[in-house]
Amino acid sequence: MSSINYNEKIPNNVNLSEDRTLQRALEQWQPNYINWWNDMGPDHSGNFDVYLRTAVSVDPQGWAQFGHVKMPDYRWGIFLNPGDADRKIHFGDHKGEKVWQDVPGEYRANLRRIIVTQGDTEPASVEQQRHLGLTAPSQYDLRNLFQINVEEGRHLWAMVYLLHKYFGRDGREEGEALLQRRSGQEDNPRILEAFNEETPDWLSFFMFTYFTDRDGKFQLCALAESSFDPLARTTKFMLTEEAHHMFVGESGISRVINRTCQVMNELKTDDPVKLRAAGVIDLQTIQRYLNFHFSVTIDLFGADESSNAATFYSTGLKGRYEEGKRMDDHSLKNDSYRILHASNGNLVEKEVPLLNALNEVLRDDYIKDSVGGIERWNKVIEKAGIPFRLKVPHKAFHRNIGALSGIKVSPAGQMISENEWQARKNEWLPTPEDRAFVASLMGRCVEPGKFANWIAPPVMGVNRQPVDFEYVRFN
Ligand SMILES: [Fe+2]
Ligand SMILES: [Fe+2]
Repeated sequence: MSSINYNEKIPNNVNLSEDRTLQRALEQWQPNYINWWNDMGPDHSGNFDVYLRTAVSVDPQGWAQFGHVKMPDYRWGIFLNPGDADRKIHFGDHKGEKVWQDVPGEYRANLRRIIVTQGDTEPASVEQQRHLGLTAPSQYDLRNLFQINVEEGRHLWAMVYLLHKYFGRDGREEGEALLQRRSGQEDNPRILEAFNEETPDWLSFFMFTYFTDRDGKFQLCALAESSFDPLARTTKFMLTEEAHHMFVGESGISRVINRTCQVMNELKTDDPVKLRAAGVIDLQTIQRYLNFHFSVTIDLFGADESSNAATFYSTGLKGRYEEGKRMDDHSLKNDSYRILHASNGNLVEKEVPLLNALNEVLRDDYIKDSVGGIERWNKVIEKAGIPFRLKVPHKAFHRNIGALSGIKVSPAGQMISENEWQARKNEWLPTPEDRAFVASLMGRCVEPGKFANWIAPPVMGVNRQPVDFEYVRFN
């Protein structure tokens, strides 16, 4: 298994030193990246020593090492999973041909667009989360935030490597533009809407890493099937890191729920007013945050009917989730899929060609996957003996893209009038009061082993360290 030469400026397993042009391009990009990190990365953190994992190889048995590092000195490297010399294209019109080691001219524009869109989400989330360190509920959580941030930075590196290596001058320009767009900025925003939303508090952060990093997982899984082999190998390795991001979200929400349930039982109340007075987040507010993050995230999969999605599949650029495990012809030209639309005040299904519905297929796979964690959260509530259950809202609820974007639907899936929506939306989505309340709980709690009142400690520390380990040295 290839290991990394840390004497090189940019750690990598792609033989960077043998490609002088590429190395020079990346070495020019690197200082601009560091400038971006200093401007837009975690606030007031440049001097902290943070207990971080760093990717040092792609060996599944030992791909990372842990140690205290200052984040601007983090070794953002370029790693691809090992190639398979016999790998064949396994879906679309080119099925059975050898995978591509270079970009076919006719697919250049689409591949570039796919890589840039994925790449843009990586720095965007770092920008969205940059103020959260100031209100961390514990050192353990602060360290996890920083871990996710540096790895999203590495994911940007991974995409910029592909742009520089395979797309020449256009690729270099795109690499610069990725450092220039800014989350939420009006004149030069990030490409996708959910990445222009703020992540203003830690409840939002945990929801984001549970739901929106999981969107990342599904996009990366679809790209890991790509006929463009370097893209497939890069995204496979990115998935190794992504698992931790979703863990932070799932366990974070679980700990918030755990703490709320403790206080509910101590005070023998389910009254949100009393619970808020006791400084914990009531389950109804958690449900509203869940509704918001779920609906905003499923929009990321795009329009339910999309000729682009069909083209990306047929030309072999982007597969389905777990393409290799599916028992069909992998060309999908004769298949159909049922999607929802509104007709006479009701949501009804209609059949459309499967190829045009591939965004919806990926969205449905995502929904199935995300329900699992919500069931595990409900187990925490059930164990506490509390008769409340969190629910995933209907997929037509609060949508902003595709056929469902113009209509109003309740979380239970009932089409409703604009008036009813206005009257009831505060039951379903976080209100300004909810957000202000959650914001009022946010305060810095960073003594080793101490946790803010609104969240329970984790079951275990990071990398077998104790929970009260000094994960961050503030210097
Ligand atoms: Fe990422
Ligand atoms: Fe992530």
